[in-house]
Amino acid sequence: MAMIIDGKQIASQLRGELKEQVASLEKEGRAVTLAVVLVGNDPASQVYVRNKKNACKEVGIRSMSYELPEETTQEELLELIDKLNNDKSCNGILVQLPLPGHIDENAVICAISPSKDVDGFHPVNVGRLSTGQPGFISCTPYGIIMMLKRSNIDIDGKNAVIIGRSNIVGKPMAQLLLRENATVTIAHSHTKDLKKLCSGADILVAAIGQAKYITKEYIKEGAVVIDVGMDRDEEGKLCGDVDFDDVVDKVSAITPVPGGVGPMTITMLLYNCVASMKDDIS
Ligand code: GUN
Repeated sequence: MAMIIDGKQIASQLRGELKEQVASLEKEGRAVTLAVVLVGNDPASQVYVRNKKNACKEVGIRSMSYELPEETTQEELLELIDKLNNDKSCNGILVQLPLPGHIDENAVICAISPSKDVDGFHPVNVGRLSTGQPGFISCTPYGIIMMLKRSNIDIDGKNAVIIGRSNIVGKPMAQLLLRENATVTIAHSHTKDLKKLCSGADILVAAIGQAKYITKEYIKEGAVVIDVGMDRDEEGKLCGDVDFDDVVDKVSAITPVPGGVGPMTITMLLYNCVASMKDDIS
């Protein structure tokens, strides 16, 4: 029987721990505070930002909200970031992506102080991760490692295959698995014979963006399967990149969608905010 890794339960447990830490920091006069910046009217981004602010509230993290119009210039956004970088009452800054097309995302990410970059997107933090120094780590892959550890899944020496090479998920996931002594391969749209590659994986992380793409032909018997997908099936129902029903009897552990990786992502944002205040980044 496969272990169904319950991301919702692990996230809830971790949020309970964070709530206690936030309360004790608050008592010391150190209020954990996140600045959340949204530019424009993208409906998905509005939902994400609302969820992030609600999650902050749940654990007692204060949030400062900046909702700017679509026509905000890059200069105006950079000015706000500069102000927040120098504002001692805020210890984390999150600029929701994607930004409107006339704003250079890279310039904005680079403008955030690395010490307040709770998304872990700044090149300094990316570089710290890849050179084994403490820094902020991108929330989705960090949440996956947290889930694996809290489920007592052994990573050391395992063959890990990650499908997807994004800056937010695939690449930091590879660094994190490497840090845990896995042998890591990153696959992507140009990879030859993906099925063969995946069927050698003890740990398979799917971040493809295509509903139910991974079927049992891709899976090694007893593999651990992590599904980062947030897709819709033919009936419009939320599903992952992995065909759960097809693979579940072949795996040793698997994350469901919904209720797997998703709940961990925002929780790790809260975790990074608390770590930022405690000056305890890993
Ligand atoms: N847009 C989609 N995912 C993310 C994320 O993790 N952080 C930010 N800032 N924007 C996003």
